[in-house]
Amino acid sequence: MPYNIPRGTQDILPGQVERWQYIEKVMQNICERYQYKEIRTPIFEHTELFQRGVGDSTDIVQKEMYTFQDRKGRSITLRPEGTASVVRSYVENKMYASANSLTKLFYIGPMFRYERPQSGRYRQFWQFGIEAIGTKNPAIDAEVISLAMNVYESVGLKNLKLVINSLGDDESRKQHRDALVGHFEPRIGEFCSDCQSRLKQNPLRILDCKKDRGHELMGTAPAILDYLNEESKAYFDHVLNYLQNLGINYEVDPNLVRGLDYYHHTAFEIMMDSDKFGAITTLAGGGRYSGLVQSIGGPEAPGIGFALSIERLLLAIDELNISLPIDEGIDCYLVTLGEKANEYSVALLERLRKAGLKAEMDYQNKKLKAQFKVADRLNAKFVAILGDDELSGNSINVKDLTDGNQEKIEIDKLIEYLKKKGEK
Ligand code: HAM
Repeated sequence: MPYNIPRGTQDILPGQVERWQYIEKVMQNICERYQYKEIRTPIFEHTELFQRGVGDSTDIVQKEMYTFQDRKGRSITLRPEGTASVVRSYVENKMYASANSLTKLFYIGPMFRYERPQSGRYRQFWQFGIEAIGTKNPAIDAEVISLAMNVYESVGLKNLKLVINSLGDDESRKQHRDALVGHFEPRIGEFCSDCQSRLKQNPLRILDCKKDRGHELMGTAPAILDYLNEESKAYFDHVLNYLQNLGINYEVDPNLVRGLDYYHHTAFEIMMDSDKFGAITTLAGGGRYSGLVQSIGGPEAPGIGFALSIERLLLAIDELNISLPIDEGIDCYLVTLGEKANEYSVALLERLRKAGLKAEMDYQNKKLKAQFKVADRLNAKFVAILGDDELSGNSINVKDLTDGNQEKIEIDKLIEYLKKKGEK
């Protein structure tokens, strides 16, 4: 077929899109409660932003970005994630100068990564994410995690696993980095060419390598938790204490490194065991970043955030057979009989809609039976039947499709009748 959808992308069709809208509303609602404000940044940015922000040595920057030159020869990249863009906007719009030095933002939108597509992994996927920028306080780390857990709980997903680690501050990371170089260097020849360059650039990335995952040196690599200095250790303990106070279960995983370079201190992922995901069990990931704002030209403002993909959330919902409370039905279907009634109904339908009712009628001259079939298919609560005879008597027949009862009422009372009866 000449015009098929690009690999790794999906159409979200009517029938599915309602689930997306429902989930997006849940997220917006939760963000309102936690006081995170929505931000919408462009889908493309200057490539340097991601090289700097996400990190030159990451797989995302090295292998997965959709990068192209625009007509003036500038290098442009479709955003692979939201944090770098949000931080760019935070700096560019001087949000740090506002009276409230803690800025809490959320975003929902498509991201692009040239990855090998499989169930739960796409080349265009939708992230919901939040960023809290301006404060280094372990209570905010706990808030970000609890917001993430709350999103999942609100759609009925429970028993998820929160995996958490600390990557420490610069000093701890340096100690750990040296230990990693010492560990891998003598046998680096046994590793893939990517890992060989990672050894010099950023040895932490070796731990994230998909190819060399099984190498025996991986299991015995020095763990960052053993290299945390006092301050980093105390910070991590604080975060864990807050999580306990909030009743959030967690598992500390000293091998959790995350695929982006900007993290310091807290790093976490939310996982689920499921056959549908194949190798992928991670629903969400996030962590704290300290140097990112400065590296993009802003002040020293630490931040923390996380992101989840809506596609994976929906897969998890399907896996657990959770049905979302989506009301796809309509309030009233106007069934018309006769030319005059048909003409009159156009304005009547408009009145129903302006009154806030979900209403529809037939535009294809369907027979009576066929119109009822459509009303059924649209999941109508009521059918209002108008023939030329009723019209001349200023009345209309209303049938309640939930119990089959039918009543003849004045046309002008229809809206009031539908609203009142619809409430029951
Ligand atoms: P990330 O771990 O790269 O972090 O992505 C976060 C989430 O996006 C993943 O847990 C997963 O749900 C989803 N995701 C990533 N790649 C794909 C894909 N190819 N297909 C479907 N879903 C995918 C970040 O993006 C960071 N910006 C998170 C963050 C925010 N850290 C601090 N603030």
